[in-house]
Amino acid sequence: MAQPDYATLMDAALRARDHAYVPYSRFAVGAAVLTANGTIFPGSNIENAAYPMTICAERVALFSAYAVGAADIVALAVVTDTAEVASPCGACRQVINELAPNAQIVLFNLRGAQQLTTIQALLPHGFGPAQLKE
Ligand code: THU
Repeated sequence: MAQPDYATLMDAALRARDHAYVPYSRFAVGAAVLTANGTIFPGSNIENAAYPMTICAERVALFSAYAVGAADIVALAVVTDTAEVASPCGACRQVINELAPNAQIVLFNLRGAQQLTTIQALLPHGFGPAQLKE
């Protein structure tokens, strides 16, 4: 496949960030995943008064794609308003490892910083489907 359309994907992540529900942390995160056929699924973090029920933007985007059978994810973009680009939390890394192991991951902020990475770099030696095989 050709190089993913990162600009469009990043724009979707930016727009998703506007819909973050973050009354507790005030830390808005936007994410978007791109599938092989060019479909984009956005996600934002959605918090809860029972704090642990909060879900990160990355997982909302990934679960939205899988919920309609869109499993061939080629790229994931994540945006925060931080000095440096923010990196997915441990829980999200585990989910990315499961649901988007081949994705190019673009981390960026509102100030123009950008980092391209992979789940292999973010979660080396991760536990995944292969380990369940006897
Ligand atoms: N958050 C994300 O959405 N993605 C991450 O990878 C890190 C953290 C959210 C969870 C919570 O709503 C807020 O950021 C502060 O932790």
